[in-house]
Amino acid sequence: MASLVGAFAASHGPLIIREWENVPPGQKQRMGDAFRELGQRITAAKVDVLIAVSPDHWSNFFLDNVPTICIGVGEVNDGPPEPWMKAFPHREMPGHAGLGMHIVETALEQGFEPSFSHRLKMDHGICIPLWRMELAKMPRVVPIFLNSIETPMPTLRRCYQWGGLLRKAIESYPEKLRVAVLGTGGLSHSIGEKTMGAIHEDFDHETIRRFGGAPEDLIAFLDEGLPARGNGSEEVRNWLVAHGAAGGRGFELVDYVPSPKVIVGCGFASWQIN
Ligand SMILES: [Fe+2]
Repeated sequence: MASLVGAFAASHGPLIIREWENVPPGQKQRMGDAFRELGQRITAAKVDVLIAVSPDHWSNFFLDNVPTICIGVGEVNDGPPEPWMKAFPHREMPGHAGLGMHIVETALEQGFEPSFSHRLKMDHGICIPLWRMELAKMPRVVPIFLNSIETPMPTLRRCYQWGGLLRKAIESYPEKLRVAVLGTGGLSHSIGEKTMGAIHEDFDHETIRRFGGAPEDLIAFLDEGLPARGNGSEEVRNWLVAHGAAGGRGFELVDYVPSPKVIVGCGFASWQIN
């Protein structure tokens, strides 16, 4: 049977690529180290398949078609379409059709109704963390796009439940595979709105603290606080999926670097899997 061998979370943001050379050296070092640390943990866990949970930044979908959750079931998916991501070394990346479809089927059996796609473009939300992690060997990647950029979005509670569902699907998949979950997005940031550039450090620190406590307290805190902390903050939903996969326990902060140059409160975390 397959097993869950890791759960991870990392921020993303276009300026982590586009402004990288202009990030103050101390912050650049810390962010680079944190990404690489996650990469080393993924390598150490001998991950065969990485389930990457991210918002789609209008690379696959637009306002005429906004799936709440879309699961990539293809043998292959595309690398990032953004022109400024063209130096990312993968134009195509292997998925895992069997596991992807098993997640869809398990979800439907369990009262979740995802959409699915046989070919997705994995934009900067997934590929910035994968790039900056400097992985020795790229695992197969099953992309899951979770709408965390356009209202209405799935509830935080449902995102957490999706994590539990993913674990159930992984652990009932008959092939011997080592699988990890990576949630990407957040923490506080604001894009294309009046508060663009704002980072709410106190809120991020409290969010991080609550990841170490009871999930219901974390969810209540975020439900109340997210609407005033910038639209990008909503992407913490992807962290909640990783948290749910880990059973709401074992959170470990790798680093938190609020970086005005990349306009994101950048967080990096992993979970102990029991
Ligand atoms: Fe994003």
